[in-house]
Amino acid sequence: MAVQPTIHDHLGRAKPAGHAARPSDRQALRVTVVGAGYVGAVSAVVLAHLGHRVTCVERDAPRLERWRDGEDPLKEPGLAELLKEVRIRFVGDASDIAFADVIVVAVGTPMGDDGRPDLSQVDDAAIQIGSLAREGAVVLMRSTVPVGTCDRLQNGPLRHQRVVSNPEFLREGRAVHDALFPDRIVVGGPQEARDLVERLYGRIIKGENLFGGDGTAPRVVPVVWMSPRSAELAKYAANGFLATKLSFVNEIANLAQAIGADAGAVLGSMGLDPRIGPQYLHPGLGWGGSCFPKDTRALQAIADGAGYDFVVLRAAIDQNTRQLSRFANAVKRALPAQSRVGLLGLAFKAGTPDIRESPAIALAGLLIQSGLRVSAYDPAVRALPADLGVMVHSAVVEACAGADAVVVATEWPEFADMDLEAVRAVTRGDLLFDGRDLISPNRAVAAGFRYQGLASLGE
Ligand code: UDX
Repeated sequence: MAVQPTIHDHLGRAKPAGHAARPSDRQALRVTVVGAGYVGAVSAVVLAHLGHRVTCVERDAPRLERWRDGEDPLKEPGLAELLKEVRIRFVGDASDIAFADVIVVAVGTPMGDDGRPDLSQVDDAAIQIGSLAREGAVVLMRSTVPVGTCDRLQNGPLRHQRVVSNPEFLREGRAVHDALFPDRIVVGGPQEARDLVERLYGRIIKGENLFGGDGTAPRVVPVVWMSPRSAELAKYAANGFLATKLSFVNEIANLAQAIGADAGAVLGSMGLDPRIGPQYLHPGLGWGGSCFPKDTRALQAIADGAGYDFVVLRAAIDQNTRQLSRFANAVKRALPAQSRVGLLGLAFKAGTPDIRESPAIALAGLLIQSGLRVSAYDPAVRALPADLGVMVHSAVVEACAGADAVVVATEWPEFADMDLEAVRAVTRGDLLFDGRDLISPNRAVAAGFRYQGLASLGE
C-alpha cells in the first residue's frame, strides 16, 4: 500500500509567509464550532488555517452577519487577516453537526449571581449536539465549565459521543497568537478520542511552520492528557494562580510604598528567577476582564462545594477588591466634591475594547458615587452605557480639559508616551494619579504635575 503522505509532505518550507500548504483533504477533519464568540471564532479560524473543514454556528443574527461579511466583531488583532486566508462557513443553524468528526463547544458561561457559571448555553448546545451528531463523534469542550461538567454530559445528552475537556488559555488581544502557538494543549477524555484530537491539532503539536517561512526548528507543543475533571480544574488552576500572583504583586507594591522601598526594582529582580518568571509582575488597579474575576469565583465555588476552605484564593480575591478601593480612596481624599477627573482608559487592559469587569469602569463608578465628575478617553472604547455617568471623549486633551486631576487607569502605550505638557496646559489642577505605574514620574513633574503612582499614593 502506498505510504500515506504525512503532513510534512504537504508543508512547503520555501513557501512565502502566509501561504503554507494546507494538508490534503484526506488529512482534513470536518469540524463544527458552536459559538462564534471570542473562543469559538478564534478556534474556528485557527482550525481552518490548520486545513480542517470548519463550520461555525452562531445564533446571534447580527454577529453572524458580521462574520459572514468577513468582519471581526471582536477586533482581535490578526483575526480579520487570518479570516481572509481561510474557508469557514458561518451559519445560523446547527445541521452541519450531523456530518462533523469533531464538534467544538465554545459558548458563553457567564458568571451567575451565586458566583457559579451559568451553564444554560452549554446544556442547550449539548442537547442539540446529542440529537444531531454521529455516534462516536468527538465533542471538544472549550468553554470554561465547572469540574464534573464533561462527565455529566458524557453520561447524559452526549452518551453516544466522546466528550473531551479541552480548556483554552487565550488572552484577549493575543488570542490568535496564543491559539497558534500554545505553551501546552490540555485534554481530558476517553482513550478512543486521542487519535482524532491529535490529528485535529497535529500541525501545532509537531510545531510546524504554519505560515511557511524559513523552516526554523519546529517548536513542539506538549499534549497533556488527563481525566476530564483534571482538565477542567487545570483551567481554573492556571487562572487562579495568575490572579493570585497578581494579588501578591500588588501587595508587594503597596508594602514597598509603606516602607520606602522601590517596588519596580523589587519586582523586576523577582522576575529574573525562572521559578517566578518576568510576566504578570506589573502592579495595577487589580485584575479584571471576563475571565479572572469569573474563574476565581467559580474556583472558590468549586472549593466551597467540596467543603474545602481555599484560603489563598479567598485572600487573593479579597485583596483584589481592596486594591481598587485603596486607589479610589487616594483620589477621593485629594479632591473636593464636584471636582472633575480626566480618566484615561476604560478597557480592562490595553489591547482590547472589552470593558467587562474593567477596573477602570469600577473606579469611575466609585469616583462618581463620591460626587466627582468623570470624563474619559480610551483608544478602543468609544462609548459607554449612559447610566454609568461617564462622559466619553475622543482624545486625551478633551477628556482632561478643565480636570482637577488626571487618572491613568488602563495601560495603553499611548498614555505612556502622551504629551504631558499639552495635557497640563488644559487641566485646571496639577494632580496626576497613575493606576498602572505607566507614566515616568520625572516627565510628569517636569510637565507641571504632582505625580501619584501606585507606590506613592497619598504622599
Ligand atoms: C486571562 C488568562 O491570561 C488567559 O490565559 C485565559 O484564557 C483568560 O483569562 P485575559 O482575561 O485576556 O486572559 O487577561 P490577562 O491578559 O491575563 O490580564 C488579566 C488581568 O490582569 C487584566 O486586568 C490585566 O490588566 C491584569 N494584569 C495582567 C496586571 O494587572 N498586571 C500584569 O502584569 C498582567
